[in-house]
Amino acid sequence: MDKKINLAIFASGSGSNAENIAKYFAKHPNIQVNEILSNKLDAFVHERAKKLAIPSFTFSKEEFRDSSFLKRLEGIDYIILAGFLWLIPDYLVRAFSNRIINIHPALLPKFGGKGMYGSQVHKAVIESYEAESGITIHLVNEEYDKGEVLFQAKCKVEPKDTPDSLAQKIHALEYEHFPRVIGEYIKAHN
Ligand code: GAR
Repeated sequence: MDKKINLAIFASGSGSNAENIAKYFAKHPNIQVNEILSNKLDAFVHERAKKLAIPSFTFSKEEFRDSSFLKRLEGIDYIILAGFLWLIPDYLVRAFSNRIINIHPALLPKFGGKGMYGSQVHKAVIESYEAESGITIHLVNEEYDKGEVLFQAKCKVEPKDTPDSLAQKIHALEYEHFPRVIGEYIKAHN
């Protein structure tokens, strides 16, 4: 792979995955994180972006729904969703067909869909007395959490787990695997 590959990360919250991915690819010869975009002006991910010296932007729902949003993504090869809340509009799925990768903090197809974000997911897993949970890294299509699965990893759910303690286990799996899986997927398709 000789060509330079540019990533845009979309994140709605803390952005610890965004930071982990940016740090991982900072040492990569071909893949780099060019920008971080968020639907929230006060998301902590903007602070992280500043420290990493990566430009970050906020967009509104109206901007996101309009295909002129594609102008902001000029030169971007892949979109990485790292804790991003909104459904990806059809025009964007089409423009980046098989080039949008999401991470979900559960073992899809369980515990996916609209509103299943962050601690809501962990709460639902615990309330269902699941013996295990995990992460799913998948391609994005027009429906929430329905695209092709690229990778899953599991962890145990203990009776004493809370949404917070489960989130910690899930984050550890995310940090370990998400950047690597992104890198391997891109390498296999370029
Ligand atoms: C991550 O656990 C990610 O899997 C999840 O949000 C968290 C963001 O954490 N994503 C979803 O729930 C998507 N439906 P972070 O902001 O610290 O990276």
